Amino acid sequence: MTDDIQGRALVFVAGARPNFMKVAPLLRSLRARSPAPACRLVHTGQHYDASMSSVFFRDLGIPEPDAHLGVGSGGHGVQTGRILAGFEEYLLGAPPTRGVVVVGDVNSTVACALAAAKLGIPVAHVEAGLRSFDRSMPEEINRVLTDAIADLLLVSEPSGEENLRKEGIAAGRIRSVGNVMIDSVVRELPAARRLQMRNRLGLQGPFALVTLHRPSNVDDLARIGAVCAFLERAAARLAVVFPVHPRTEKRLREFGLFDRLAATAGMRCLPPLGYHETLGVMSEAAVVITDSGGIQEETSFLGVPCLTMRETTERPVTVTLGTNTIVGHDWARVEELVTDVLEGRYKKGGAIPLWDGQAAERISDVLLGAWGA
Ligand code: UD1
Repeated sequence: MTDDIQGRALVFVAGARPNFMKVAPLLRSLRARSPAPACRLVHTGQHYDASMSSVFFRDLGIPEPDAHLGVGSGGHGVQTGRILAGFEEYLLGAPPTRGVVVVGDVNSTVACALAAAKLGIPVAHVEAGLRSFDRSMPEEINRVLTDAIADLLLVSEPSGEENLRKEGIAAGRIRSVGNVMIDSVVRELPAARRLQMRNRLGLQGPFALVTLHRPSNVDDLARIGAVCAFLERAAARLAVVFPVHPRTEKRLREFGLFDRLAATAGMRCLPPLGYHETLGVMSEAAVVITDSGGIQEETSFLGVPCLTMRETTERPVTVTLGTNTIVGHDWARVEELVTDVLEGRYKKGGAIPLWDGQAAERISDVLLGAWGA
């Protein structure tokens, strides 16, 4: 490798909440190498509230971004377009770049991958190959497109490699590296437990943690109304802790559902929680009911039962080896499974290969090997 390549920086992109816990271990791992390669972090600004962004930088020890594109919210076209234009401008003005690393499946992921690919800069996609096979999910479009243009596809679970091979992607572009988000869980769990969230929230007995933000659950009145009715029934059986995503709160208020839900006995509607707070609550919950992608993985690692309120998952290993069950909107089934949890009959789950807290080390090896050590 020439000195020229060595002097070029690896550029990491983070934009939305689920990106931060994936980028943190990668930056830490590379900065601990000797000699440490130059790394830069670009925050697109897709998420911008303190509770959706800066608290994660603090909890995860992520350094200040080198650039902030400040794109904010907007429709998919507007948001993706602003990130594409903003990141292209950044790359053109920045010192030479060795490669761009994008993570996950949000609009920032696909937009930055596209900007870099069009400039002829190598792209690595962390969490490649996941597929829900549901093109009505914006994330599924983002996944398929990002994988089509990335040079290095870094896969977190066995289905990822299988899906990519079926799409005709050459084996040489794919590496199984494990789940980097679990690196953050392993590192931060002691700090999360020290918060003693159960005591802080004054909870007694078993409780459920609920998170909901998918358009398919919250954007439609009939659907979110049914979800609220379910949550009210659930709160009569066990305490329900519900940190409300800004998108969900907006919808609940528009539909006139928020105040009634928040006033329901046993319901604890909270603002979005930080990383340590979320992990702390999750690790103490009897059951988690969610439509998140990442939470299916975190609960599987922690051995906490997870009921996923979606029709599909792009993370099937959490069902086959972990603690996850895809329940859709079959309320009778969800209630039965909550009973199984409370009576100790719910499946226990087991270890998932390469979800071991060392994924960032493997990813760093791959990046430096492919793009010049
Ligand atoms: C995005 C991701 C989703 C991820 C989720 C985690 C896409 C397509 N979706 O969805 O995959 O699971 O992040 O949160 O990229 N808002 C705020 N403050 C913020 C951010 C958002 O108030 O800091 C509100 C705005 O009203 C905004 C809405 O939430 O319009 C939706 O935000 P957006 O980033 O478009 O999508 P998410 O639903 O957060």
